[in-house]
Amino acid sequence: MTDILITGASRGLGLGLAEHFLERGERVHHLGRRPCPLTSERLRQQSVDLADLDAIPAALDALDPPRPELAILNAGVLGRIQDLAETAMDEARSVMDINLWANKAIVDWLIRKRRSPKQLVLISSGASVNGNRGWGAYSISKAALNMMAKLYAAEMPDSHVVAYAPGLVHTAMQDYLCHEVDSERFPSIRHLQNAYGSEHMPDPRRAARLIADSFATCLQQPSGSFVDIRQLAT
Ligand SMILES: NC(=O)c1ccc[n+]([C@@H]2O[C@H](COP(=O)([O-])OP(=O)(O)OC[C@H]3O[C@@H](n4cnc5c(N)ncnc54)[C@H](OP(=O)(O)O)[C@@H]3O)[C@@H](O)[C@H]2O)c1
Repeated sequence: MTDILITGASRGLGLGLAEHFLERGERVHHLGRRPCPLTSERLRQQSVDLADLDAIPAALDALDPPRPELAILNAGVLGRIQDLAETAMDEARSVMDINLWANKAIVDWLIRKRRSPKQLVLISSGASVNGNRGWGAYSISKAALNMMAKLYAAEMPDSHVVAYAPGLVHTAMQDYLCHEVDSERFPSIRHLQNAYGSEHMPDPRRAARLIADSFATCLQQPSGSFVDIRQLAT
């Protein structure tokens, strides 16, 4: 039985991953705002709003996970799809805090406590490299996360670190993208709308199986790499 630390397992991909690892008999330590709805004596959790960066170390003290075999820093927000010039600074800052700086607070705690995970997966996105119109603060936060993986890789010789794009997963994020965003103004959305409801956008449970299986393959890449599951598959 191994210890897995995961953030944002209340729903979506994080929930799918937590379920997958619990079914595999692992111990899951969940840090998130709302609770993970699963029931298991191998599930431990601590609630924290990851936007509240100063609250993260105390939440981790309370969760007190042992050195994880695998840490998946998954929690994230999309923000609204809109032009960067229309994005209020507060909104951009909030996306950066949750998608980037909260992960720094978590990794720093693990390093300080000498509990650096054997494998650290920072959940990134294809948007970190695509630079499509409208993905503003989200794209910037995930691009910075890719760089953060590289920087921590150099500082954490006993950990294997990747920034990992999970491909399309049918979650609330995709519901918003496919139903509420104007694809005339933001044409990159069309690709998502075409995949919506098809095998090209699996539900979180199915996606979690594929993603978790690919983590072993990630270890073959240099620590600090950006890995996209779609490139691993080809
Ligand atoms: N879905 C996709 O196709 C896709 C594609 C590429 C990358 N990703 C990435 O995959 C990750 C998971 O996305 P998802 O699609 O599963 O999204 P989701 O369904 O919206 O779930 C997001 C998770 O993050 C948590 N979270 C958000 N803000 C938080 C905060 N302030 N404090 C604590 N937890 C917070 C949510 O908790 P609450 O329930 O408390 O809000 C939830 O558990 C994200 O990093 C996303 O960028 C997803």
